[in-house]
Formats: sequence, C-alpha cells, structure tokens
Amino acid sequence: MFMELGRMSSIDMIFRHDFSQNLTWALWARDQPPWFTSNMYGVQPHLTVLENDGNTHSVVIVNSNAQQFSMLSGPSIQYITTGGLLDIYFFLGPTPENTVEQYTEAVGRPQMPPYWALGFQLCRVGYTTIDRMQAAVNRTSFYEIPQDVQYGDIDIMHKSLDFTYSRENFPGLPEYVRELKGKGIKFVTILDPCISSGEDPEEYRPLKLGDEMDVWVKKADGTPALGKVWPEHPCYFPDYSRNSTREWWRILIKEFHDLLEYDGLWIDMNEPANFDQGEVSGGCEANNLNYPPFVPSIAGGGNLSQQTICADYKQDAGDHYNVHSLYGWFQSEPTLAGTREGSGKRSLVLSRSTFLGSGHWVAHWLGDNWSQWDNLHFSIIGMLQFNQFGVPFSGSDICGFLGNTTEQMCQRWMQLGAFYPFARNHNGGDVDQDPGIWGPEVAESSKKALLVRYTLLPYLYTLFYRTVTEGGTVARALWHNFPTDFNTWGVDRQFMWGTGLLINPVLDENATKVEAYFPNARFYDYYDGSEMAVRGNVTELDAPLDKINVFVAGGNVLPTQEPAVNTDISRNNPFGLIVALDDEGKASGSLYYDDGDSIGTIENEEYFLADFLAENNTIISTVVKNGYQGMSDKRLTTIRLLGIKGTFEDLMVNGTIHTSWTTMPSGEVLISNLTLSLTSGFTISWTCQNCQ
Ligand code: GLC
Repeated sequence: MFMELGRMSSIDMIFRHDFSQNLTWALWARDQPPWFTSNMYGVQPHLTVLENDGNTHSVVIVNSNAQQFSMLSGPSIQYITTGGLLDIYFFLGPTPENTVEQYTEAVGRPQMPPYWALGFQLCRVGYTTIDRMQAAVNRTSFYEIPQDVQYGDIDIMHKSLDFTYSRENFPGLPEYVRELKGKGIKFVTILDPCISSGEDPEEYRPLKLGDEMDVWVKKADGTPALGKVWPEHPCYFPDYSRNSTREWWRILIKEFHDLLEYDGLWIDMNEPANFDQGEVSGGCEANNLNYPPFVPSIAGGGNLSQQTICADYKQDAGDHYNVHSLYGWFQSEPTLAGTREGSGKRSLVLSRSTFLGSGHWVAHWLGDNWSQWDNLHFSIIGMLQFNQFGVPFSGSDICGFLGNTTEQMCQRWMQLGAFYPFARNHNGGDVDQDPGIWGPEVAESSKKALLVRYTLLPYLYTLFYRTVTEGGTVARALWHNFPTDFNTWGVDRQFMWGTGLLINPVLDENATKVEAYFPNARFYDYYDGSEMAVRGNVTELDAPLDKINVFVAGGNVLPTQEPAVNTDISRNNPFGLIVALDDEGKASGSLYYDDGDSIGTIENEEYFLADFLAENNTIISTVVKNGYQGMSDKRLTTIRLLGIKGTFEDLMVNGTIHTSWTTMPSGEVLISNLTLSLTSGFTISWTCQNCQ
C-alpha cells in the first residue's frame, strides 16, 4: 500500500559508527523508512563520543538547515551545513548518562508519560471498518494479552479529513471509545498537518477557522501553499511557527475531544510530507532557495522539495529553507497543550518528526519500518539513539509496518517490542498482525513477554521519573552502564533498562539460540533467579520460540507489581521487589508512583517516592515523598532476593520473625505473605550461615 518492499544495502548498519566505511549522513526531515544512510523523519545533529578510557562527551550542533556529517576514516568528521547558525555545544559527561543529563538540562527534559501509555498499544491502518478494529481488540482480550491502548489511524476519518470520523465505516466509534475506556483501554488517534482545501468551509471548520485565523504556510506571492497528502483534494499546510496557528490548532484539538474522547494524539506526516514535489503542479520556482548551489546528500536526487514543500515558501519563523526540519518540533508543543486542555489529563503526544528538544513534549515511534528481520536490529539502534536524544519514550512499529510480516517474525518482534519503552504493534501491510491473529502459540508467547513488562512497570515508570528530574536514558546500550568495558562498545543486539535489566532478544529467523555478552558483574536470570556463571564474556543462551531472555543486574532493587490485562487493573495489585545483590551483597533502587495521569504531579509534589537499600543482610525502605494519597492502601507482598550466598535463615520483618519464605532451586529466596505498607518504610533482615 505504501511503498514497494525493499532491502537495505549490504553496508553493516550498527549503533557505533564505523569510520572506515566513509559514510555520509545527511539531515533534512523526510518521510522516509530506513534505507541505507538516507535522511529520515527527524533531525538530531547530536554525536556521542566515547573515549578509550570510557569517558564520554556529546556534541550538539543547533542547526536546522539541510546538513551532512561524513564519518571519514582519518578518523575525522566533516560537517557541512547550508545555512543558519553554527551553535555548537559540548556536554562533557564524563559518564555516558551524564551527557544525556546535561543535554536534556539544556533542551528540556521529557514529560512524565501517563502510566497507561507504558502498557501495550495496538494500531493498524487498514482496519477499514469498526468491526475489524473490534475484532483485533477482542482477539487480544480473548487470549488475555495485556492491552492498554487502541489507536485510530486515517481510515477512521471521514474522507481522510482531520478532526472527523467516518460515520459510514466506523459507526458508533465515540460510543466504542467510551466502552473501551470502561474496560481500562485508552484511545489515541491520528492527526496530519494537511488540511484539505477542497471542502466547503461552512461544513469543515478546520478550513474555515484556518482561513479566518490566517494559519497557512504561504508561497512567495502570499497565497497559501498547496500540496497533496491523504485527502482527495490538495491541502494547506499550517504554519505552526505562527502564534495564530498554534492557537487555531489548540482550539480544534480541544473541540475534537467533544466528538471523540481521545486520550492522546498521534501527529504524523509532519516533516511535512507531501506526495507532490513542491507545488501541486510539480516543481518549485527556480531560485537559490529551492535550488541552492550545494545540497547535502539527501534522498530524492538532491532536491530539497522532493516529498515535501518548496524551500522558498514563507513561514513566520523564516523561509522554509531554514525551518523545514523544525516543522514537527513547532507542532509538538501546541498539540500537547491542546490534548491536555481537551482531555484534562496528562495525555500523550506521539510525533513522527522530531528536532533537538522535541522530547520535552512528545514521544516518538521510529516511523515506517519494514516487516523484515534486519529491521528488528535497526529498531534497537533507533531506540538507543532516541534515548540519547532526550526522547526516551520511543520504539518502532512492532511486527513491522511496510509489507507483510510472518508469524515467526511477529512472535519475535512482540517479544522484543515488549521491552521498547514505547510498545506499539502497528501495521500497514495487507495481513493482520495483532498478537491474537496467529493463534495460541504466538498469543501465549506475546502474553508471556508482556507480563514481564507489566510486572516491571513500576520500575519502568520510575526510570521515566528519573529522566524527568535528572535526565538520562530509559533504554540504553550496555556501554552506558559499563563504559570502561570495551567489549560492550559494539553491542547493539542487546540493551538495558536503566542499570537493572538486560534484554537479549532473538533478531534472526529460525534462531533458537542467541549470543549474549555479560559484563563482569552479577546477572540473574529474570525467570528462575539463577546467577549467570559467565562474566566478562560471551555465551550462547537457549532461546526457544516462546522465550525472550531477560536478566536482572546485581546491585539493583527493581519495584514490581502483579500484572493484569491492563494498567487500570494492575495498578490495584500488590507490589513486590526484586532485590539483586552485587558482589558486595548490596543493591539499591527506588519506586516512583503517582495517580498515573494527572498533569504536574511532580511539580505539585503529588507523588510517592521510596528508596530501597540492601546491605549487610538488611533491606531498608525509606519514604522520600508521601504525596500520593492512593499509595496508602497499597501493599508490598513479595520479595525476590537474588544472590544470597550461604544458607539463608531467620528472616525478620520490622523486627518480627517472618516464616513465609523459601529457597528456590536456583538459590533465589522468595519471601511471600508480606503485608507491608509502602508509605511507612520498613526493615527486613536475615541471618545466614557461611554467607561470605
Ligand atoms: C504514515 C505513518 C503511518 C500511518 C500512515 C497512515 O505512513 O508513518 O504510521 O499508519 O501514514 O496514516
């Protein structure tokens, strides 16, 4: 439907740049799936440099013009830009996480995502009818696969027009959205910038109000620019750099909520994409802006207007030539403001095009990817990059968007995607690919992987809290945690959540084993709690089709909560802790929790925060902030204690003997039947024989 299926070039695509390949990476926002070194949806002139001693810094060039970076075998970097300012910032680290903390301090740290947005999300363009959308939701729930969000794509619209829904193909959609909410499933829907010029303004308010408020990108002669996107007629492009446009957009988004009670919005095609080249009639005027003497090596034959609008069009912020790659960035803040006004909640905005600092307002999916095996690997690279770019809430379309996935690919991708910070299965292919469509085997393994995610949601949410308050990443490469271990530097087929969780997905067809590198530290199998024997070395792990390997890193305390089919339900379940001891018998961690969807819980101090510290055979919980009322009736009932050496005996909980514990065959000590109030703080201690 969208593009012919194609394969990447044979060039090895890796997270760590290989300067010997002498590759040039051009930046100019473009509607472009992964294709060799092609410029893609966003522009992030941001390099992270890891030195031989493990010290890290990053270099950010605040420039929005068409530009290119060549990584040359010197090694050297050649940078060329076609205009703008040359504002270069260095973030000195010295740790990899420090660079992200410092960068996000400069450009703006992320918003706290709503809790539900960390759940599994389901999407497809091409349901074409409400029945098919409902069938996908029903299949998911039939197999008790967790789902927190259902999406509407352009096919829910009337004639592909923004701010509408099709009463013909999606009759009763508003009622269905309400019904879903009653079950704990949220609804997110799509908006494209393009506003059709061909409708009767009296019947299409976005057009009428847009004309009145003078919101469109203009041609040099002052008339509104036109292009072609999904609607039947040519479109106007809102100039989001203009105040009146931002106001217009906010008004429409707010009013739209009266029609369809969305919980979040998805802003697409905001490079801005245009199926025409420049003008509707094709081409752009012959001048220096449209055809400058030098054009970076962008896709589209070196033509700036290919798949977008003309560079000499006028916006409030300047010539499109200078601000093209800021289009999605300018749209982001007013969209978040509008959806918050409309929903009255924290809400979520998902943007395809991003620029430096976009992560302050939006989450990002990696755009259209291919339903091909190599795209599983690319998705890890993209996710790790966007975490460095200060957009930690990111992930790619699970099971692939372009072309048809296969059962096994989708099974493996559901497992990998269960560990993207942003976990959405989205499809543009002909065959359905929701996790319930494939029958019991894929459904069960998807459920199994998602139940691990849902168990760990309090940990994931706490990692997001850290990105809001301190910066840093959620999903990160191994070398972010082990920068002096050079064996980690090239690892991009495994990744971590914070410091505490290591994920080793299968990325290759028919593989039932996977190679994994374990840094020189204690790691424990998430499922059975056994300690990995291998340290500072590579090993081969069994990876049958129904399993994704996940490990807990020693030194960490991970807060958990019993999973359920959505977070509305799981948020009422008992909490737990996974305490994974390091070589010194120590571990630490924390739990952030709030009501999950109010705006400003951190600023208003309406949250709960506790620190956990394990050392000397004792776990102490200290309440740092007790500002969330809903926490008082929550109980902590289980603790998985990993890494006990010697013989565990005599467990005391707040000074009283507690007998509900067992030592598992793996050595894990499972403490159960606790009824600890989280808001009071607690002490748990034990004795053990021959522990050291
Ligand atoms: C674009 C988006 C894709 C969406 C489609 C239809 O290709 O990237 O996610 O489904 O448009 O709206």
